[in-house]
Amino acid sequence: MKITVVGAGNVGATCADVLAYREVANEIVLLDIKDGTAEGKALDIWQKAPIDLYDSRTIGVTNDYTRTANSDVVVITSGLPRKPGMSRDDLISVNAGIVKSVTEQIIQYSPNTIIIVVSNPLDVMTYVSHVVAKFPRNRVMGMAGILDTARYRAFLAEALQCSPKDIQAMLLGGHGDTMVPLPRYTTVSGIPVTELIAKDQLDTIVNRTINGGGELVKLMGTSAWYAPGSAAAQMVEAIVRDQRRIFPVCIALEGEYGIKDCYLGVPVVLGKNGVEKVIELQLNDDEKALLEISRQKVREVMDVYDKMK
Ligand code: NAI
Ligand code: 2OP
Repeated sequence: MKITVVGAGNVGATCADVLAYREVANEIVLLDIKDGTAEGKALDIWQKAPIDLYDSRTIGVTNDYTRTANSDVVVITSGLPRKPGMSRDDLISVNAGIVKSVTEQIIQYSPNTIIIVVSNPLDVMTYVSHVVAKFPRNRVMGMAGILDTARYRAFLAEALQCSPKDIQAMLLGGHGDTMVPLPRYTTVSGIPVTELIAKDQLDTIVNRTINGGGELVKLMGTSAWYAPGSAAAQMVEAIVRDQRRIFPVCIALEGEYGIKDCYLGVPVVLGKNGVEKVIELQLNDDEKALLEISRQKVREVMDVYDKMK
């Protein structure tokens, strides 16, 4: 198995490190446009192998796409991160150009690959990559829902003073202020979360989740990378090992949830073909209304990109 991670910045390098440590592939190519950055980080990850005891080899390259040839999965993390005061959507003009050119070069050398987009604004960058790649939708997806549910689960574990391992949750919609965490589909070892926590406390956690990215940007002056890098690696692992795991993943909707022509996070089964299946949850009227707001918001940013094209 061969994986390429484009962008050797905070998220990309973390993702490559997790992939190597978990031995998800024997070869991991880390590519960046900045001379020496990917080479240096890949060497550092390789020098960790005798300490952490893994065989996966990470190879760094500067913009040389021939070295990415025949990758089974490609993770695109190249692009500007959010800075204080910026929304994810503010990144569109620069990052759309980057994601377009990266996708063009990737598919030239790996026409059968599966693409996982991480760059922001996530839902629209997934759209950009899908339009450029012209792959079937199961092979172009975006990572956001695993990160957003991880934040939600971490906050719940803290509030309930229990292990985050025991918290299962689902979330729908765009990766932004209109994401839709779903308390009705959140359980703690099978127990509905609503039986364990008061409504106002749950509402506070849902709100903190929605603003979870911004909270970290305020603290660090740039966006997060440990959880995002691990989340992308978890998607790669599900595909490479054909685990058929169910995660919230951004994909082109083709009528599911009554939505077409929009890229949104929904629960899917991830396996060797990428998205094996989209799962349609039964939503109540409030959840449907929130998803519609999210759809409109993502559609607006897709329209901004369409006008730029
Ligand atoms: P970073 O600035 O640390 O790394 C970005 C890297 O991309 C840099 O090393 C840069 O040289 C490289 N790059 C820029 N243009 C390139 C090109 N044309 N080809 C190859 N490499 C190129 O940023 P960070 O923190 O790693 O974030 C990366 C992206 O991921 C940002 O857009 C950020 O907003 C997004 N992000 C998305 C999340 C999600 O949940 N989907 C979560 C966290 C970050
Ligand atoms: C995050 O949610 C900014 O998308 C980035 O951390």
